[in-house]
Amino acid sequence: MPQTLPCTNTLSMSLTMNPHIKPTEFARRRKRLMQMMDKASVAILPAAPMQTRNRDAEHPYRQDSDFHYLTGFGEPEAVAVLIPKRKHGEFILFCRERDPKMETWHGRRAGLEGAMEHYGADDAFPITDIDDILPGLLESAQRVYYAMGCDTRFDSQVTGWVNRLKEKARAGIHTPSEFVTLDHLLHDMRLYKSRSEITAMRRAAKISAQAHIRAMRCAQPGMMEYAVEAEFLYHFKRHDCDQAYTPIVGGGENGCILHYTENNAELRDGDLLLIDAGAENALYAADITRTFPVNGVFSPEQRALYQLVLDTQLAAIAQVRPGNHWNQPHEAAVRVLTRGLVKLGLLEGNLRTLIKEQAYRPFYMHRTGHWLGLDVHDVGDYKVGDQWRVLEPGMVLTVEPGLYIAPDTKVGKRAVAKKWQGIGIRIEDDVLVTKDGHEVLSKDAPKTIAKIEALMAEARQ
Ligand code: GLY
Ligand code: MN
Ligand code: MN
Repeated sequence: MPQTLPCTNTLSMSLTMNPHIKPTEFARRRKRLMQMMDKASVAILPAAPMQTRNRDAEHPYRQDSDFHYLTGFGEPEAVAVLIPKRKHGEFILFCRERDPKMETWHGRRAGLEGAMEHYGADDAFPITDIDDILPGLLESAQRVYYAMGCDTRFDSQVTGWVNRLKEKARAGIHTPSEFVTLDHLLHDMRLYKSRSEITAMRRAAKISAQAHIRAMRCAQPGMMEYAVEAEFLYHFKRHDCDQAYTPIVGGGENGCILHYTENNAELRDGDLLLIDAGAENALYAADITRTFPVNGVFSPEQRALYQLVLDTQLAAIAQVRPGNHWNQPHEAAVRVLTRGLVKLGLLEGNLRTLIKEQAYRPFYMHRTGHWLGLDVHDVGDYKVGDQWRVLEPGMVLTVEPGLYIAPDTKVGKRAVAKKWQGIGIRIEDDVLVTKDGHEVLSKDAPKTIAKIEALMAEARQ
């Protein structure tokens, strides 16, 4: 057998390129970031480390989102260095070298040439040489942009490089005087999604919505929660997606546990099923929750509460438009939800006082959404100074009000009437802020009572 690998010239087979984002877009992002960085500064970003699952088994590798955003490079054991205005090139990538033996065991590598040819690096060096090369790159820098505290092993490597330079200070070597977090610049860039990022997110939402429809079609009394979860995993993988997070598949009162992931109970006739599951497409997440009756028909109590959560969600989504601030969807949600809880007799008192005192908290204990993107709980500030952030086109957020009446829920000292107990409902969509308002990326997942019941009835024929 020859010593070369069959894939030497077919890097695209290695699946480490993002199919939605072109190399020119990654280059534009680096350029934008470098334009905002101070003079005489360097940015250092490590790739995500591999994570051991148990002994020799590793978790599936997932690249760090910041690292991906700036490089598109999908391998571990890599470090990106950005040095604005460096004569010999501003983007330096340390990565693993090609190695036929290692690649036979562990998979393909881009290597130094691939880093330059396919990922736009101006210079590429072996990761094994980083301790010798990187201190030299820091020599004339005053500031080092680096996210300290995310990876303790890498933190000490970075401080080691700076300390080594300091030891040489008497020889006239200039050392950086400041570490600065990259978050403010980089995470603000990530908050505004480009056209190609939106395409990636639209696909993540579409595949996820299809999986929710699959679940509605197949769920029935006696089925196990994990069997429904399997439908999602199958559908995601079948469409070259991963799960963006561990799915929550909770029947009955399990739907009242916000982060329920055991997914090991039997679905019961007469219960609701809450599913929070989203796909990750080319590293971009969807985050969708739907709640529906296991037997296909809402009971009168379930119907009343579900319609209230849906009205709440629609009121919140209506607030998503440029010029409104981050908290307006949440404020609309608590108004509609509290009013509805009073109407149903679950809360008593003056509406304004109940809202002011957050009387809804026993039933609704989380906020109405979060930013969405490369991370499910994506980066970006929610406030600027002490003001809520104003929504702008290109931002993507979830809108996800819920109502959770666990059997032991009390309002003050009063227990909730039995007929409401064990009902957990959340409806979650992914919403893009557009020029004129918004677009619900996850609109293909049915959420009206009529549509859910019709779909489930049809699947049962
Ligand atoms: N799936 C996580 C969340 O809804 O925030
Ligand atoms: Mn969410
Ligand atoms: Mn969710």
